[in-house]
Amino acid sequence: MLRHLIQPLDFTTTEFEELFRLADDILLDPIKYGDICNGKILASLFFEPSTRTRLSFESAMYRLGGEVVGFADAKVSSTAKGESLQDTLRTVENYADIATMRHPKEGAALLSAKAMNRMPIINAGDGGHQHPTQTLTDLMTIRHYKKRFDNLTIGLCGDLKFGRTIHSLVRAMNRYENVKFIFISPDELKMPKQFKDELKEGSYEETSNLEDAIDKLDILYMSRVQKERFVSEEEYIRLKDFFILDNEKMKKAKEDMIVLHPLPRVNEIATEVDSDSRAVYFEQARFGMYIRMALIIFLLEIEVEL
Ligand code: CP
Repeated sequence: MLRHLIQPLDFTTTEFEELFRLADDILLDPIKYGDICNGKILASLFFEPSTRTRLSFESAMYRLGGEVVGFADAKVSSTAKGESLQDTLRTVENYADIATMRHPKEGAALLSAKAMNRMPIINAGDGGHQHPTQTLTDLMTIRHYKKRFDNLTIGLCGDLKFGRTIHSLVRAMNRYENVKFIFISPDELKMPKQFKDELKEGSYEETSNLEDAIDKLDILYMSRVQKERFVSEEEYIRLKDFFILDNEKMKKAKEDMIVLHPLPRVNEIATEVDSDSRAVYFEQARFGMYIRMALIIFLLEIEVEL
């Protein structure tokens, strides 16, 4: 059956667990998986800038023995000549077995998936909407360090309005038991109502003060202010450094709190924090490649024995 990953709820928590177990196995024994995608092609279609998502997907496919076609700049595809996204994807379906796509428009991945007959589409970020493979990366990191998804208090700090990684992570974590969210943002960048409405009763609180919240957290998820989604440059400049996590603030945090960040970072985490053992965001980026290897295998319906 043709499956896509457009937003985290497209997969059950049981399927998530299968992916984490597969990713763990790949991490332990990558050679075992080195030719599992021989003859398969990944289309890597990036209409917006990316470092981690694009390179980890492409690296994932190469490490599985497959090949990659695609582009990292919309200007070099025929969409620049006015071709519709659906026509582009229907064409790519003739050349590739699976596609990962990032696009500035919310809903672009879903629209493309609807036009597909045989090629799975993976949403690598659609505007300010969703970023489900970042969520898989985040959950793999949480599972590694916390050994559980239940009974956690997660602080989400920064641009909660436009931060698609935040929207996807909250949606995914809301399925686990006794998860509390503390949304930490300036008033202008609060979590949109549509996402709060999905949450369990009493499961979240909101504040604009990171220092007041940090001692309650098991996980602090920092995010940058999304410059590319602002209409006003002035407004961006006013808000961009609203929160800066530094060693002084880290002193108030639990000894086993972990700090996540989808990256790229701008100023919101001082580089002095990088050497704190609780700062795991570069390890998080490393996990991103292994979980994407697992996802490619899963969506291509390749049988594996763990
Ligand atoms: N986390 C993330 O999506 O990073 P990139 O924009 O570099 O892909």
